[in-house]
Parts: sequence; C-alpha cells; structure tokens
Amino acid sequence: MQIKEKPQHRQKSHDKAMAKTLGFSGMKAVPFLKALPLAVAFGFFIGLSFPVAITPKLQCGILPWSRSFSYSSVLGGLWAPFRNDTTANATSGSEVARKPRGEERLPPGIVVSESDLHLRRLWGSPAEDTASRKYLLTLAVGYAEKVNVNATVQKFSENFDVMLFHYDGVTTEWDEFEWSKQAAHVSARKQTKWWFAKRFLHPSIVARYDYVFLWDEDLGVENFDAEAYIDIVKKHGLRISQPGLDATKGKTLYDVSVKRDTGEMHKTDGGGRRCPDVHQRPCSGFVEVMAPVFSKDAWRCVWHMIQNDLVHRWGLDFHFWRCVDDPEEQIGIVDAQYVVHHGVPTLESQGNGEKQGSGAKVKARQNEEMVAFKSRMTRVAKELANSNTTSSSPTLS
Ligand SMILES: *[C@@H]1O[C@H](CO)[C@@H](O)[C@H](O)[C@H]1NC(C)=O
Ligand SMILES: *[C@@H]1O[C@H](CO)[C@@H](O)[C@H](O)[C@H]1NC(C)=O
Ligand SMILES: *[C@@H]1O[C@H](CO)[C@@H](O)[C@H](O)[C@H]1NC(C)=O
Ligand SMILES: *[C@@H]1O[C@H](CO)[C@@H](O)[C@H](O)[C@H]1NC(C)=O
Repeated sequence: MQIKEKPQHRQKSHDKAMAKTLGFSGMKAVPFLKALPLAVAFGFFIGLSFPVAITPKLQCGILPWSRSFSYSSVLGGLWAPFRNDTTANATSGSEVARKPRGEERLPPGIVVSESDLHLRRLWGSPAEDTASRKYLLTLAVGYAEKVNVNATVQKFSENFDVMLFHYDGVTTEWDEFEWSKQAAHVSARKQTKWWFAKRFLHPSIVARYDYVFLWDEDLGVENFDAEAYIDIVKKHGLRISQPGLDATKGKTLYDVSVKRDTGEMHKTDGGGRRCPDVHQRPCSGFVEVMAPVFSKDAWRCVWHMIQNDLVHRWGLDFHFWRCVDDPEEQIGIVDAQYVVHHGVPTLESQGNGEKQGSGAKVKARQNEEMVAFKSRMTRVAKELANSNTTSSSPTLS
C-alpha cells in the first residue's frame, strides 16, 4: 500500500466536498475482525438454541471467512448433531457453507435474484408497464439544493431511473418537479451518500443497470450530457469514471481529475498536485467520490468495500482501483462531458449543533475514519497474504 495521504491536507481541501451528513459522534469503530470471535461464539450459542430457524442466517455472515479460520471446523462439528438436512454429513467449514441459503429451496425457474428501482403502476398488465431503464442516477440531496438538483436531473435522459437519497427529511416537496414523481425516494436524516448506497444500492438490486451514477448534489452540469458521457465510457471501456472538473470555476483537489482539452477522456496523469508517483493513486487509476460512475461489475465490488460502521466521507476513492482488473486502463476521467464542483459544505452543518455533534466533531470523525479505513484495509490485505501460506491456522490478532 503506497498511499501517502496527509489527513490534515485532505481535511482542509476536501472540506467542502462530497458526501452529506451524519448525526452522531464519538463512536469508535470496532475492527470487524476483532469482533469476529465474539460473533462466532454468539452464533454458536444461538445455533444451539434455535438450530433450525437461525443457523442458516448466521452462516451467510460467518462462513465465507471460514477458509481462514479454524473456528469453522469446530463449528461444523458442533452444529452437526443439530442438523438433519443435506449437510448432516459435513464436518468441515467448507461443507457447512454449502447449506442452502434460501433460493435453493425453490424451483430454479421461479427464482428472481435481481431487481431494479423502476416504479410500477398498480393497474394493467405487468408486461405492458414501462420497462426498467438502462442506467441509474442516484443523488444524495437536501432541499436547499433543489434548483441545482433539478438542473442535474434534466441532463439525464429517459434511459435513466432516478433515486434520491434525502438526508434532511424533506421528500414530498420535491414533487414540484415532474420527474420527482417517477423517482424512488429514500429518506433518512443526517446520513451520508455512502450510508444510503450501502443500504439501498445492493448489487442485486441494481444489477439491471449497466451504469450507476452516485452523485453529489452540488455539481454544475452546464457542459454535461449523460448519454454522451456513457457513449464515451463505453467506447473506452471505462469501468469506473467521473466527469472532468472545470478548474476555471469550481473546486479541484487533484490534477488528475481536472478536465483537459486534449481529448474526450484521459486516464493517466503526468504529475501535479498530490501526485508523488504517476503510477499510483491518486495520479492514475483514480476518480474522486463526488461524482463517480460505476459499471455494474465494478459496483458489485465497491458495494462490498463500503464498511457498515463508517460514514465514509472520503477515502473509499483511494481503493476503487481494487474493483477493476487494470486500474490504469479501466478507470478514467471524461473530459468532453465535464462538471463544475461547487463544493457546497453541507456535511459539517449536519451535526446536531450541540456539544456532542458540533461541526468540528463531525469533521474529526471524518478524519479518524479515513485513517481507520486505511489501516483496516492494510491489515486484512496482510492477513489474506498470510493465510495463503498458513491457511490452517487463524491469523486473528
Ligand atoms: C431426519 O433424517 C432422517 C433420515 O434422513 C429422517 O428419517 C427423519 O425424518 C429426519 N427427521 C426430521 C425431523 O426431519
Ligand atoms: C452422507 O454420508 C453417507 C455415507 O457416507 C452417504 O451415503 C450420503 O449420501 C451422505 N449424504 C450427503 C447429504 O452427503
Ligand atoms: C427544472 O429545470 C428545467 C431545466 O432547467 C426548467 O425548465 C424547469 O423550469 C425547472 N423546474 C422547476 C420547477 O423549477
Ligand atoms: C498461494 O499459494 C499457492 C500455492 O502455495 C501459490 O501458488 C500462490 O501463488 C499463492 N498466492 C499468493 C497470492 O501468494
């Protein structure tokens, strides 16, 4: 891991950026690997008490890890006497993991494992409903930015389903815009874009969309057209992308994401601000968090990377590269369709305004989280490397 970010720098310049909100402070992130033994012990206890109803659910959460931990064989042995199904013979973790998780109980022909966010009507034949769109636009919004949000949505064609994440509790007021009536609305106060994305953009829910736009509300879109953007993304095989940022008007942090005049898109940088090594993030294979666009495969990966306990104002972007085969070829900035990043500072003002949630504390959490996420990633990557050589012994510590 060669990422050398300076939290103070990022704090200062990222201040007015992206994500939206958050409502609590002082919460310590519990490293999830440390919590695992507890979870396993708890799972075992529940498994004993409610062997039939509960254990299948637990297995989804715990057993994918079983390859690396010897706990699994212990569990397999202990659970066995209470089972009377297809895995009754299992004695090892990998065999236990084959236990049906749900859909296996159904005739395959009736299983629908993917969905979408397209609204349906309550009458008529389902076959004649309007079809789900090809692409999805999601925006985390507050009502104060409605004019800009309306302008943004206007740049997206009929080929887009729209979903709004409301962090300020205001929802029906948006119906003054005709398009709002066709959009899906999710409301949860003082939450960030990534909080919403984790909970409402599960890869199986958005699997029908070729591209998912996960945008902030404060982007100037005068020189942007979504269909033209997608044409470029497809043509150049970009799995993760963002529109170039107009440096003459809005805010910019990294040179690599600044719009260039040399072509319709660019991938690698020649250096510039915060770019110590042209082959490393954030110099190439990098886009920022305020206006990313993901192909469905890339999103399937990024969704898994979002941590449940973090609000993720920033920091995820330094790891988007993990979600494509060749970051320097498959991640890029689209110059021909570009935006202005106004950098409206909505996040810090979303604290609870009191001692325990002041703007300063909101900001402090963002910085602590960035460090926590980075070290979490470093640790698990190391553990994975170790487990390859000592796969039979647990590497928790
Ligand atoms: C357990 O399995 C045995 C043998 O397959 C079967 O005869 C028995 O009915 C099963 N018991 C229950 C409760 O399913
Ligand atoms: C369990 O083991 C017995 C004997 O080894 C075998 O006949 C049976 O098919 C196995 N059942 C399953 C579900 O693997
Ligand atoms: C939304 O934006 C469009 C395009 O700029 C504009 O024509 C329309 O009047 C706006 N709607 C409202 C309700 O302001
Ligand atoms: C894991 O181990 C196998 C065989 O021991 C080896 O072929 C493979 O390259 C290793 N993978 C990594 C990522 O170290």
